[in-house]
Amino acid sequence: MNEIVNEYIESMIPDRTDLFHEMERFAEANNVPIMELAGIEALLQILRIQKPKRILEIGTAIGYSALRMAHALPEASIVTIERDPERFQTAKEYIARIGYSDRVIVLEGDALDLASCTNTMGPFDAIFIDAAKGQYTKFFEMYSEQLADAGCVYTDNVLFKGLVAEKEIENKRIRNLVAKIKRYNEWLMTNPDYLTSIMPVGDGLAVSIRRGEENEKA
Ligand SMILES: C[S@@+](CC[C@H](N)C(=O)[O-])C[C@H]1O[C@@H](n2cnc3c(N)ncnc32)[C@H](O)[C@@H]1O
Repeated sequence: MNEIVNEYIESMIPDRTDLFHEMERFAEANNVPIMELAGIEALLQILRIQKPKRILEIGTAIGYSALRMAHALPEASIVTIERDPERFQTAKEYIARIGYSDRVIVLEGDALDLASCTNTMGPFDAIFIDAAKGQYTKFFEMYSEQLADAGCVYTDNVLFKGLVAEKEIENKRIRNLVAKIKRYNEWLMTNPDYLTSIMPVGDGLAVSIRRGEENEKA
């Protein structure tokens, strides 16, 4: 996203509650990656249109996106997974403080091990993938089995600061990560079972729906 355009969009985003501001400051001060402002706003708007009742999130961090979703969608319940014990604890505290413990359930552990646990909590109308970028394909394959027929899978960071479009990347670690994201994007865009669109907002948001009789065939 062009930085000036992004700043312009962010400057017009309506104000948020004090607790969300506090979480944004906490994330920045403690180097916790949370969704970019324009990205979460776009996701929330699509979710308001979709009106999911059950949402599964992979990658809670401190619970910022989960609580933004719960706040924007009062009818929805959210199951979210975090493997980092400290972030899991912080998320639980924020969830309790905002008073959403009945609607937002955080599971502690590696999402690669917890599919049997969430299986009984679904099917999910929306699945939001926002965890280790190298595992996106695995997350999608494992958890899309728990997606409701008319559900959507949302994936964040698919443009990874625009680096997916760069020809050369010097830093080896970043280059390998970008290669993984590009492989995921290609796999997703050519997936015969899903129709996907990549939105150039925030860090890049992919929106995938099942190809069905009404949706275009591959
Ligand atoms: C980008 S942050 C999530 C941000 C959050 N969705 C938000 O916008 O507020 C990614 C989180 O996923 C967690 N994570 C990474 N891989 C994971 C895995 N395999 N299972 C569970 N959590 C994972 C990381 O510890 C990190 O806190």
